[in-house]
Amino acid sequence: MIRTMLVTGADRGVGLALAAKWLEDGNRVFAGQYADSPGLQELLQQYGEQLTVFPLNVASDASVKQAHEWVRSRTDKLDVLINNAAILGDIRNTILGELQYEEMLSVFNVNALGSLRMSQTFTPLLLQSDSKLIANISSEAGSVTDCWRDAWYAYCMSKTAVNMQSKLIHNGLKPQGGRVLVIHPGWVKTFMQGKLDEAAELTPEQSAAGITKVIQSALARDAAEMECEYVDYEGRKLNW
Ligand SMILES: NC(=O)c1ccc[n+]([C@@H]2O[C@H](COP(=O)([O-])OP(=O)(O)OC[C@H]3O[C@@H](n4cnc5c(N)ncnc54)[C@H](OP(=O)(O)O)[C@@H]3O)[C@@H](O)[C@H]2O)c1
Repeated sequence: MIRTMLVTGADRGVGLALAAKWLEDGNRVFAGQYADSPGLQELLQQYGEQLTVFPLNVASDASVKQAHEWVRSRTDKLDVLINNAAILGDIRNTILGELQYEEMLSVFNVNALGSLRMSQTFTPLLLQSDSKLIANISSEAGSVTDCWRDAWYAYCMSKTAVNMQSKLIHNGLKPQGGRVLVIHPGWVKTFMQGKLDEAAELTPEQSAAGITKVIQSALARDAAEMECEYVDYEGRKLNW
């Protein structure tokens, strides 16, 4: 089935690979672009009107509102919203080091509040579809149960907040047929740490293919029977 999907943070990495995968599968894609993105320009040339690229800063109320106006003027429904955009912040300092609170606020604003801003603003469009599915790209780093790090404060805490936010939204939309998935994309070779993480296990394309399978298998299920699930890109359950 052809679906309409919106992905945030589609400039590069997992977000760009998700846009490419959903286009390749014949879907209509709205891709949020944050900065320069040669990758999205290439996809535009390849897919033309099947892809709509629009400026999006998930950290800004005004930008998300403007993006919503833009998307709403081009579609009357959204089947799937993938909240992918995120930043890392400091990953070195422990409780014995110098924690950077201003930076932490920015990380929270992008990772935790950004996806909430998007989900709330786009809920009316999602509710117009039969699918009504939000996929929040979180991380194993958001698991409280399995936490092993002693640093990465902003990132880990913001991803735990994404996990809680996902459950709250799931509970709020379930009566309307909505559902929320929380997905860890695996350890992916991207530029999230400021340079290519060559040691990582997966290419963005492999991660995007797995995430897409997880979403498609959820779409095939009855929303009324679904809980908010925290899984990895292969559908394996993670501990909250
Ligand atoms: N890579 C991993 O191993 C890994 C592991 C666990 C979870 N994740 C999660 O996977 C998702 C994708 O990460 P990635 O590895 O693909 O990293 P990435 O390449 O850095 O992708 C993040 C994307 O978000 C965009 N972005 C940053 N700030 C934004 C903002 N304020 N508004 C909108 N977009 C913004 C970035 O744009 P620019 O590039 O233009 O700045 C980039 O396109 C994230 O949610 C991340 O937390 C990744």
